[in-house]
Formats: sequence, structure tokens, C-alpha cells
Amino acid sequence: MKKVRVCLIGCGRAGMIHARSYAGKVKHAELIALCDPFEENLKLAGEEIDVPYTYTDYKEALQNPEIDAVIVVTPTKFHHDIVIAAAKAGKHIFCEKPMAESAKECDEMIEACKANGVKLQLGFMRRFDRNFRRGKDLIESGIIGQVTSLRSNTHGPSEPKEWMFDVRNSYGPIGEVNSHDFDTLRWYAGSEVKSLYAVGHNFRSPEMAEKYPEYYDTCQTILEFENGIVGTISGAQYVKYGYDSRAEILGTEGIIKVGSQHADQVEVTVSDQKNLSDSVVSWRTLFADAYIAEANAFADCIILDEEPPVSGHDGKMALMLVKAGLKSILEKRPVQISEVEGEEE
Ligand SMILES: NC(=O)c1ccc[n+]([C@@H]2O[C@H](COP(=O)([O-])OP(=O)(O)OC[C@H]3O[C@@H](n4cnc5c(N)ncnc54)[C@H](O)[C@@H]3O)[C@@H](O)[C@H]2O)c1
Repeated sequence: MKKVRVCLIGCGRAGMIHARSYAGKVKHAELIALCDPFEENLKLAGEEIDVPYTYTDYKEALQNPEIDAVIVVTPTKFHHDIVIAAAKAGKHIFCEKPMAESAKECDEMIEACKANGVKLQLGFMRRFDRNFRRGKDLIESGIIGQVTSLRSNTHGPSEPKEWMFDVRNSYGPIGEVNSHDFDTLRWYAGSEVKSLYAVGHNFRSPEMAEKYPEYYDTCQTILEFENGIVGTISGAQYVKYGYDSRAEILGTEGIIKVGSQHADQVEVTVSDQKNLSDSVVSWRTLFADAYIAEANAFADCIILDEEPPVSGHDGKMALMLVKAGLKSILEKRPVQISEVEGEEE
């Protein structure tokens, strides 16, 4: 069977996870090109993964007729222009989350892909994780009856970089860590969110409070879905104890708990009540298999000419929820999702 020939655009932290998947672990795809304007990153990537083509300008890469698809993993502010140019060049597109910076940009990207007949898949890899996927399958099996409420948390260990303290640009943890929870809960609820209320506070970086009074490292969000399901999301950054991503689905007939804070499948707690199980240290390790499954799904939807399993609409809605969440934190009030849909960046 034909293989999808892929070019990676953006050879940074997340880009190299995709590069390693496409360099041998994706059945119907192969990595043939790398692109990054930062020559040091391009050189390092090329030393690790041998490809016939390297580019410092994505516009040049898009002219190569051998490239069937691009994986866009640049900083978010460049996603819009690169995706539109790739669609016009007839390349299928995988784009990392957050999709773009505004609803208008997302709409333009979706439209360009539709007009040029190319696939657009968004990077919500939890949908391909064995455990999160099982949660969805169990909901659909009806084993817990009707879903009534959902809970999801992501707590990340990384120390915030200076730019993250300015939440009007970074969104803070609601964007950095909770955008995946928003997607997971929309997926589990099978419904769009009607309104949300989010509250946040800075506990771990009090020394930054004077310069960045709006910064928060901890937040709780309550969501009301259009179908009546109630959701809660816990977000925290710089938690130090590891990377912690779990979900809980409560139904009329039971409960499903997805994920564990511990890397070990066996938990040991000894007499001084100390838990000896290792924590999960990073999203890179927790979701290592999910990234490969995600890449396989992208290649397969191109080969089989099927709809991508995670759409541009999913990317747009996750961004709208992040925007509504930050608005709620800053304005200290519940926000209807319809309030942020027409907002420009
Ligand atoms: N799905 C996930 O869990 C996940 C995890 C981490 C990051 N991300 C997303 O992936 C994207 C990249 O994040 P990162 O952490 O890898 O950033 P990064 O800064 O480590 O890497 C970005 C790379 O893009 C390159 N770049 C910049 N402009 C470019 C251009 N015009 N053309 C080609 N390359 C360009 C940079 O030189 C750099 O090498 C962001 O949108 C981020 O939110 C998603």
C-alpha cells in the first residue's frame, strides 16, 4: 500500500515526538522532510533522523511535490498562516493544539482545507490513549447508565517560563494544561459546552504577584453542557510531584475512573503511610503510545479517504473554552461560550 510522505514543520520539543513516530512507527507513512527556520534545531533533528529533504522556510517545503502531508508543530501564532498555505499547496495537515489564536482564524483554516480537499486533524492525543479511549468505549457500552457528571484534571510539574506569567498572552494553566481536559470532556459528554465558571489563584509563585497580578497557577472550572451534563476541571501548573492526568465519569448506574498518578501499575503503601509508587514524570512518557496511535490514525484517514478522528471544529471549540475560561477568571463571573465566539484576538 502507498505510504503518506510527511514533512515536519517545527522541530522543537513536541515536533520531535512526532518526528520519532513518523520515522518508522507509522505503518502507512514515512518522514521525508524536516523544516525549521532555527538552524540549530534543524541540524539536531537531521542528526537524529536522516531525511532526504531539509528546509528553513516552510513555503519552500510546500513546493516539493513528493510531500503529501505536513505536521505543523510550530509556536501557535504561526499555525494559521502555515495551515492556509499548506492547504493551498494541496497538502494534508496535522496541526498541533491550540489550533490558532481566534475563532476567525480557526474558521479560515477549516474553510481553506475544505476548499482544497485536504484533511485537517488536530493534536488531541488523549483521544488515542488506551485508557482514555476505554473510558469513551465504556460510556458508549451503557454500562454506567446515563452519564450525569464528568471530572478531569491535569496538573503539570513544569516551572512557568517568564512569558507564561502574562496570562493575557499565555492563557495560564487553563490554556497550557487544561485545553486537553476541555477536549476530553466534550468528547465524553458528546455535547458542546453552554457556559462555564472558572476561578484561579497564584499559590506557588507569590514573588511574581506584584509584576503579574493576574497570574494564577491553580484553577477550577465548572462547565454546563448543552445536554445537561455537569463537568469540573482541575488545573495546576508547577505542582512538582509529577504529571497527573486523570478523569472520572459518573453515571446513573456506576462510575468509571480513568488514569493514575502513578507510573507503576502496582501501588505500594507502607506502614508510615508512604506511597512507594513512582509518579508519572511527563506527558511525553504518559502519552508515548497515544502519539504513535494518533499518527497512525492521521495516515490512515488520508489513505482511506475518511474524516480525521479529531477535527478542526474540535480544535476551535477547545480554543473557545480556554478563552471563556480565562475571561471567567479575570472577570470573576460565569461566561456563556457564545460570548467569546465572535471575539477577535
Ligand atoms: N499535544 C500536546 O500535548 C502538546 C505538547 C507540547 C506542545 N504542543 C504544541 O505544539 C506546538 C509547539 O510547541 P513546542 O513545545 O514543541 O515548542 P518549541 O518552541 O519547543 O518548538 C517550536 C519549533 O518551531 C520552530 N518554528 C518557529 N517558527 C517556525 C516556522 N515558521 N516554520 C517552521 N518552524 C518554526 C522553532 O524554531 C522551534 O524549533 C505548540 O502549538 C504547542 O502548544 C502540544
